Amino acid sequence: MAQTRYGLRIVRIILLFTILALVVYYNLKSGVDSIEPPSPIPAPKPPPTQTPLPSDYYGWTLTTIPNGTHVPGFTLLDHLYLRNGTFYVVTLDRASFPFRENLLSRPVETQLRFIAPGWQDAGRILGTASGVLGLETKYMKDFSVIVYDPPELMKDYFHWFGEVILGAWRVYSHISPDEPAMSATPPKHLPLPRHFILPFMGRGDLAGSHGALMRAAFPYVTIEWSDYWDDLKRLDTTVVFDRVMLVNRHAATRSPSGSVPWSSSMIAGAMNVTVPPNFLGSCAEYAVAGHALLEEGFDRRLSAEDHDGLIEALRELHAEGICDVRVVTLERMTLREQIHVAARTSILIGVHGSELNLQLWMPGSTVIEIFAPNGYSFDNELVARNMGLRHYAVWNDTFVTYDKGSYHPTVNFSDGFDGVIPVHGPTVSSIIRSRLPAQPAWKYRTILPGTAWYDWSLT
Ligand SMILES: *[C@@H]1O[C@H](CO)[C@@H](O)[C@H](O)[C@H]1NC(C)=O
Ligand SMILES: *[C@@H]1O[C@H](CO)[C@@H](O)[C@H](O)[C@H]1NC(C)=O
Ligand SMILES: *[C@@H]1O[C@H](CO)[C@@H](O)[C@H](O)[C@H]1NC(C)=O
Ligand SMILES: *[C@@H]1O[C@H](CO)[C@@H](O)[C@H](O)[C@H]1NC(C)=O
Ligand SMILES: *[C@@H]1O[C@H](CO)[C@@H](O)[C@H](O)[C@H]1NC(C)=O
Repeated sequence: MAQTRYGLRIVRIILLFTILALVVYYNLKSGVDSIEPPSPIPAPKPPPTQTPLPSDYYGWTLTTIPNGTHVPGFTLLDHLYLRNGTFYVVTLDRASFPFRENLLSRPVETQLRFIAPGWQDAGRILGTASGVLGLETKYMKDFSVIVYDPPELMKDYFHWFGEVILGAWRVYSHISPDEPAMSATPPKHLPLPRHFILPFMGRGDLAGSHGALMRAAFPYVTIEWSDYWDDLKRLDTTVVFDRVMLVNRHAATRSPSGSVPWSSSMIAGAMNVTVPPNFLGSCAEYAVAGHALLEEGFDRRLSAEDHDGLIEALRELHAEGICDVRVVTLERMTLREQIHVAARTSILIGVHGSELNLQLWMPGSTVIEIFAPNGYSFDNELVARNMGLRHYAVWNDTFVTYDKGSYHPTVNFSDGFDGVIPVHGPTVSSIIRSRLPAQPAWKYRTILPGTAWYDWSLT
């Protein structure tokens, strides 16, 4: 009997273990089923409810604005996502980003979205990001500049170099850590972009001197047009940009201070960022004498008599050995000659208008802009300020110049603004006399940050 009972107990124990083993097996099996990811996303880490927020979450690297490098219309973004023509910012903290309209506004308002959890509900971002962005990504290494604007204005030399390129480089330079290196010979500069991407422009929209100068300024950079953008859309995958400077004119002209007279300028906000003084990387070897350049357009706008008076006043400066003087008409010069002459000029004189575009290649110099009496416009002055040039406005026999932080009160397209303009020569030469001691001339000068120590030497 005892033996039978003992045998039964063993049978019961075996049965019990078998059932237990079965239960454990099924539990494990179903457990494996339930933890098998529905998609190849890495296993969840603990939800990041505490600060600081993680930079990498569930495999989605969060989008950031490095060192706060943003003014409306010019934004540096690390890990910006793009899918089917729409940009996505992935963040755990929506409030740390500017308004969408300050990043990207027109042409199409909705083409930038935020993937952000509602009020620190960090766990949900995983599902949201994967749901929207899918699971495959294509990684775009290094630094790209995306100019999200239609071609109309960008075809213009001034709008392209004086606003898009100057503004983008100035804002980008905000992250520049090593100022002294920029004064080295040849000057150092921040990493150049690998691509310029122009989603709404076609091949040929930067025709003529634009394209040529872009190649000179950024020798190893590719320019991609709308066909490339359309290809990215058709990829049906998410493109991850390592670092992007996102440029948008409409956003840039949304000035926070609508009361200032230059608020509609694209580069008004760019003046607000702090940058090293030599951010254009265009330092130089000094030559001994100063060089002044009078630029007169084809449609010379100074009255004949005043033109002669101005030339006479400049000739006196030359004769006294105060500076070398040249009188040129840019339209008659090749691109190379223009840059060559800009590279050695330390004082540029011209009538208000596109003649003064040459200042774009003269960082650190002086520009003297002749207006019709009482007339004023900020276009050239804002370029000068962004580039670190000293700007003078001349009204016949009077002039003004403004220090940082002070401004002419208003735009004034006065009577005769575009007509024949008077100028008193000795007034201009007095400005040059006062500037020259502080204004060395350059023997060499690079024309844009990327110019590989371009040989615009005088020899
Ligand atoms: C891509 O965007 C277009 C409109 O911009 C839309 O019609 C199309 O359905 C989208 N494609 C996918 C795959 O979402
Ligand atoms: C961030 O910008 C400041 C100037 O505002 C500069 O001093 C600092 O070096 C920059 N930091 C980095 C990491 O670029
Ligand atoms: C520049 O910054 C100041 C203060 O930070 C602000 O009041 C002003 O509106 C800004 N100007 C532009 C054009 O962004
Ligand atoms: C310009 O200034 C000169 C010198 O003061 C003066 O003689 C001349 O009349 C002025 N011209 C005009 C148009 O005001
Ligand atoms: C604008 O110019 C006109 C002359 O054309 C002058 O009468 C007027 O006072 C100027 N306005 C301002 C605000 O300077």
